[in-house]
Amino acid sequence: MSGVAAPRTERAPLLELRAVTKNYGAVRALNAVGFSLAAGELCGIIGPNGSGKSTLFDCCTGLQALDAGRIVLDGTDVTGWPMNRVARDGRMLRSFQKASVFDTLSAEENLVAAGQMFAFPGVASTFSLGAGARTRLAELRARAAELIDLVGLAHVRDLPAGTLSYGQQKLVQFASMLMPRPKIVLLDEPLAGINPVLIEKIATAIAEANRRLGIAFVVIEHNVDVVMGLCRRVIVLHQGEVLADGSPEAIVNDARVVEAYLGG
Ligand SMILES: Nc1ncnc2c1ncn2[C@@H]1O[C@H](COP(=O)(O)OP(=O)(O)OP(=O)(O)O)[C@@H](O)[C@H]1O
Ligand SMILES: [Mg+2]
Repeated sequence: MSGVAAPRTERAPLLELRAVTKNYGAVRALNAVGFSLAAGELCGIIGPNGSGKSTLFDCCTGLQALDAGRIVLDGTDVTGWPMNRVARDGRMLRSFQKASVFDTLSAEENLVAAGQMFAFPGVASTFSLGAGARTRLAELRARAAELIDLVGLAHVRDLPAGTLSYGQQKLVQFASMLMPRPKIVLLDEPLAGINPVLIEKIATAIAEANRRLGIAFVVIEHNVDVVMGLCRRVIVLHQGEVLADGSPEAIVNDARVVEAYLGG
């Protein structure tokens, strides 16, 4: 085990899925899926197309309602919470597919803006003035600087985000997501359609955020080599069920996983 700095004060799981079942009409996308994640875990989810990976995130974040089962986040039963309530709660965040940044703001200002929107949603962000707001802004700036450094963008921190490469914009977006100090972040194919150099940079950013900030990540990814290199635990979904759950070594040597997904 590497030296993870995140303090563990309680034994309760950070995220617990209890027999989660989700149907789309006649299609059973998830069938009694159950597992739990501890604080600070870095867990990959792999499985064939249509095996239910994205649906799992949809159910955790309130985008889809469950047909059966419970979702417990950090001791709070969040089953049935709508998506905006889960997002506003801030403990569990989910990535968006597209890299979208504020073009005219600098890389670092993008992060500050993300933090502002989270702290003062809606019009409140425009009117948050006074000493309290200034202190809060200083905190956001310090956090932004720390995260810009963590994702390796210190050399472009003051450039307008619109002038950055696609990869750098993805890193800005990733760092922005960490501004509200989530405990767990769900990433649905964060590396899809990007070149190998960038894959390495984003994988490194995930690993560093996990190691230095203690944030737990769940990463859906088809690139098995990347998953096995990045994650300490891998869950394999197959036809809406957990086929295997273990260390990368155990997974690649599991005959059922090889047959169902990895190929013989
Ligand atoms: N909104 C939806 N409405 C109807 N059916 C859906 C919906 N979302 C997913 N499905 C179906 O549920 C099953 C699981 O889909 P899901 O997208 O979760 O799989 P996945 O593992 O993420 O696949 P991929 O690797 O292709 O992203 C599939 O049969 C899919 O067609
Ligand atoms: Mg998917």
